[in-house]
Amino acid sequence: MKVLFIGDVVGSPGRHMLKEYLKKLKLKYRPDVTIVNGENAASGKGITEKVFHEIKEAGADIITLGNHTWDKKDIFDFIENKPEMIRPANFPPDNPGTGITYHKTGGQTIAVISLQGRTFMPPIDCPFRKADELVEEAAAKTKFIFVDFHAEATSEKQAMGWYLDGKVSAVVGTHTHVQTNDARVLPEGTGFITDVGMTGPYDGILGVEKEAVLHRFLTNLPTRFEVTKGREQLNGVFVTLNKQSGQAESIRSLMINDDQPFFD
Ligand SMILES: [Fe+2]
Repeated sequence: MKVLFIGDVVGSPGRHMLKEYLKKLKLKYRPDVTIVNGENAASGKGITEKVFHEIKEAGADIITLGNHTWDKKDIFDFIENKPEMIRPANFPPDNPGTGITYHKTGGQTIAVISLQGRTFMPPIDCPFRKADELVEEAAAKTKFIFVDFHAEATSEKQAMGWYLDGKVSAVVGTHTHVQTNDARVLPEGTGFITDVGMTGPYDGILGVEKEAVLHRFLTNLPTRFEVTKGREQLNGVFVTLNKQSGQAESIRSLMINDDQPFFD
């Protein structure tokens, strides 16, 4: 089983990079399933139904979300009808939508789970205990279990990697938008990276216009943040899973930008 995961798609530049490169990446790596984090896909915050379809048409099978899940209000009108789009599972009970989905491919099933961290983030239910619950549920159905852990703190993401080592196929961190150089298979067979990085503007600050962010740092005044234009990048990971055990055999980070162009 081969999994392609694309890190946080930010606004129209991110969607443009998906359209430009996702099909090329799929031709090159031939993934069985393609997962895209789309929580920043609609003008940097949240997702709309139109953007959902755009990401699907670009080649995503599954879309994961995060702390901006509810930022675009029309999500409440369509999230329940889109089982292939998941929001963090440890949002409090009664939140719409679900945090786990199952995708069938080539006679196999892969479970994809979305969880969100709590360190330097809004207080929500415990991601570790929710992981226990969902991994138990998923393991009854499949040995392929993939986790997107949307979290701010490097330590919390590493903790989740170690916590789930040997219990799931992969744990990939999202949310901080800068790809970390630590993709590895942990000793018990779980593929891990602290953060996959983002897909969108290349010359902003985490996808936002650098002038606005600098203004905020220099003046501490409230500043409107917009997704910046200009050069673009794509960040992702490609994970191969053992057919028999479901454990990761390899994980490699992918980066496309003007300094590291794509070669097919
Ligand atoms: Fe986020």
